[in-house]
Amino acid sequence: MTYIPAENRYDTMTYRRCGKSGLMLPAISLGLWHNFGNITPFGVQQSLLRTAFDNGITHFDLANNYGPPYGEAERNFGVHMLRDWKPHRDELVISTKAGYDMWKGPYGDHGSRKYLIASLDQSLKRMNLDYVDIFYHHRPDPDTPIEETMGALDQIVRSGKALYVGISNYQPEQAAVAIKTLRKLGTPCLIHQPSYSMFNRWIEGGLTDVLRQEGVGCICFAPLQNGLLTTKYLNGIPADSRAAHDPRYLKPDAITPEKLSKVRALNEIAQQRGQALSQMALAWVLRDQVVTSALIGASRPEQILENVKALDAAPFTQAELDAIDAILAQ
Ligand SMILES: NC(=O)c1ccc[n+]([C@@H]2O[C@H](COP(=O)([O-])OP(=O)(O)OC[C@H]3O[C@@H](n4cnc5c(N)ncnc54)[C@H](OP(=O)(O)O)[C@@H]3O)[C@@H](O)[C@H]2O)c1
Repeated sequence: MTYIPAENRYDTMTYRRCGKSGLMLPAISLGLWHNFGNITPFGVQQSLLRTAFDNGITHFDLANNYGPPYGEAERNFGVHMLRDWKPHRDELVISTKAGYDMWKGPYGDHGSRKYLIASLDQSLKRMNLDYVDIFYHHRPDPDTPIEETMGALDQIVRSGKALYVGISNYQPEQAAVAIKTLRKLGTPCLIHQPSYSMFNRWIEGGLTDVLRQEGVGCICFAPLQNGLLTTKYLNGIPADSRAAHDPRYLKPDAITPEKLSKVRALNEIAQQRGQALSQMALAWVLRDQVVTSALIGASRPEQILENVKALDAAPFTQAELDAIDAILAQ
């Protein structure tokens, strides 16, 4: 059936300016790391993407190695593109990345010009796209001169294969050098993509200062800590959860009684605020405007419907923020 997006899709989502750029991103974005490979039915993937867009999520985030197997999420997205998204291409911000191991041999990993440009060419073919909106270097490469890696990003923008570029997983000092190098080349760094959640606060130790100062946007991945910052694990590990079916990133033994007691205490605060815990966890990463967007994953459309309401509740009071800090510090 031809997809007709919801007429009111822009009515409820908040859009935030990405650093000092002209680009606005939805406060909640959807990532295709999980649930878009060859183990998820095509219809489920389609309903995730359609539900997201119908609710104002205009940004889909991919990488060359999302699957399984590597490349499969982009390949599947390419089919969704042809079926649903071509007429709406100009309403979408689509990103991809390269930086982790992708193909065999010395040219399919890290940060060389050779790898980044070849990888983006492959990604564009898989996704049936002429260009991506954002292309990222996925992780820092200490062995390649930063001028080469950033030079490749600059070349990619100048060649029209990406509109903007970003970096991911760079530490504050590395980010500062990369941002300055790009600026010298004449291509601003649009955005940084770090991990960030109530259980993972590393970006507060310098990175957000760099991004604020440089006017670079920030999209936080895994804001729900792979699903741990929801109520789903409070009564055991559900068979259809990430911890049960793909425990590489959320190992069952990481769901400790101590973690769960924090989740319970956080959930009480969420309830007092009239929110689901997932919604409070997302509102919390978005509490500072330096964060442009919270980049979620979802295995079913209902999760997206819950998560897009994250900013519906009142802003945090100082007392609530202090109470959350106290729980997290235990
Ligand atoms: N740059 C990088 O290095 C990097 C690394 C990792 C991720 N990312 C990006 O970040 C995106 C998000 O990462 P993530 O999937 O780990 O994020 P996440 O939002 O922390 O976790 C998503 C998972 O939590 C569960 N969930 C989501 N909403 C829920 C709700 N309302 N109630 C209960 N469970 C819920 C679902 O898992 P189940 O239902 O399956 O349990 C879902 O797949 C990725 O797709 C990718 O685009 C980037």
